[in-house]
Amino acid sequence: MSNKSMIAIIGMAVMGQNLALNIAGKGFPVTVFNRTTETTERFFRERVNGVPIRPTSTLEECIQSLEKPRRVMLMVKAGQAVDTFCQKLYSLLGPGDVIIDGGNSHFTDTNRRVLEAERRGLFYLGTGISGGEEGALSGPSIMPGGHRDAYEAVQNILEKSAAQAEDGPCCTYLGPESAGHFVKMVHNGIEYAFMQAIAECYDLLSRGCGLPAGEIGDIFHEWNATESLGSYLVEITWKILKHRDQETGQPLIDLISDQAEQKGTGKWSSQAALDLGVPIPAITASVVARTLSSYVGFRKMGTTIYQPPVFTFPPRAKLIDSLGHALFLAQTTAFSEGMHLLAEASREFAYRLPLSEVPRIWKGGCIIRSRLLKRFQSAFASQNTTLLIHSPEFRDDISRALDPLREVVATAIYAGIPAPLFSASLGYLDGFCSQRLPSSLIQAQRDFFGAHAFRRIDREGIFHEQWGERDSG
Ligand code: ATR
Repeated sequence: MSNKSMIAIIGMAVMGQNLALNIAGKGFPVTVFNRTTETTERFFRERVNGVPIRPTSTLEECIQSLEKPRRVMLMVKAGQAVDTFCQKLYSLLGPGDVIIDGGNSHFTDTNRRVLEAERRGLFYLGTGISGGEEGALSGPSIMPGGHRDAYEAVQNILEKSAAQAEDGPCCTYLGPESAGHFVKMVHNGIEYAFMQAIAECYDLLSRGCGLPAGEIGDIFHEWNATESLGSYLVEITWKILKHRDQETGQPLIDLISDQAEQKGTGKWSSQAALDLGVPIPAITASVVARTLSSYVGFRKMGTTIYQPPVFTFPPRAKLIDSLGHALFLAQTTAFSEGMHLLAEASREFAYRLPLSEVPRIWKGGCIIRSRLLKRFQSAFASQNTTLLIHSPEFRDDISRALDPLREVVATAIYAGIPAPLFSASLGYLDGFCSQRLPSSLIQAQRDFFGAHAFRRIDREGIFHEQWGERDSG
């Protein structure tokens, strides 16, 4: 091992460990440090073999082991732990050194930290990393943002450690300040929607058609072989559905609690979208679906009060075919929403995001990687595309899938099986295909009770009407 390491990784939970093994495996000497030294020691003892990784037991020792500029990657719990380490690092690092936050930090925290670090002459790269444990080890999708000079100091390490797609590494400089963490947040929002769409297919096939988990697994297996549905999430879904519990022999999925958890990145996407005025109903519906699932008691009470509707399901083969189209459309809608949010954020926060690069670096390593991403990439290669659903690349496919999506939503509604993601996707598409919306009435109501005024379609100007007797409320 060379005398000095090229990068330090702080935080030896499994993501930090795997990233250290990945980077060292590419030949870059790595120093590792963890608040709890025992974790570093165990990692070194049990997992480090033949790669240049140096364990350290104090932060001072860790920083001293680095060549200049010193590159320090934080893989610690988002929030207070990042600030705690930053404060310590400020006194140990010097001008030109780079802190890389590889966690899921909120983008506003990253903006603050970039400024704090730059006041001290340091660089700060807010860097989204997607791919889970396996991706961290074998090559994740990496989404860095911050000062461009800082990116150049770590570019070689990050790009060599990232997943490699046919047209380059799944890592590129995305823009200043929190650009990287914003893109990662939206990635996760889209991930929520993909997962919810798959879950709603499963629900309609399981509760609706009465198919056992293994047979539903076969359907996902077939879908995974297709150009429009093949994806990492569909692949893990068929594997999950065919997996049996060792003790009981039952499909394990049937034994898993149905309360979905979340760490907040989907919710942050919805919050940012509301603040920026970008409609992302499918992503938001997925966040709400997880939240609703946690109210087990309320759900149980509902079943004692109301009876499910009596409904005859359409022929199974037809429903499966429609679900395949609906899943494609839900994926496309969620992607359209996410990219629209990125385009608006890029304008509002002056990120200057390279929009066609975003799907490119999501083609490998990350959780939402799918065959469709190549086509999403080419759709955004055109400067004119903001809404994916307008792209000539997708018009025919979307037109073909719309009626099947309507059938799926109608089936779910009549069967009393909630399909909030599919319903929201359809609402999004129908909304953007409506020349005239009833928001005219909203404007009239606002003017009636609040004199908020309205515009007319037949002449220029702002108008207020004397509507007659006013509502005192
Ligand atoms: P996990 O990913 O296993 O759920 P975590 O609680 O999110 O773990 O913590 C991830 C990393 O952040 C760990 O390296 C953890 O250090 P410890 O092994 O010492 O717990 C680190 N971490 C979490 N909170 C921290 C804090 N307040 N200060 C310093 N490091 C912290």
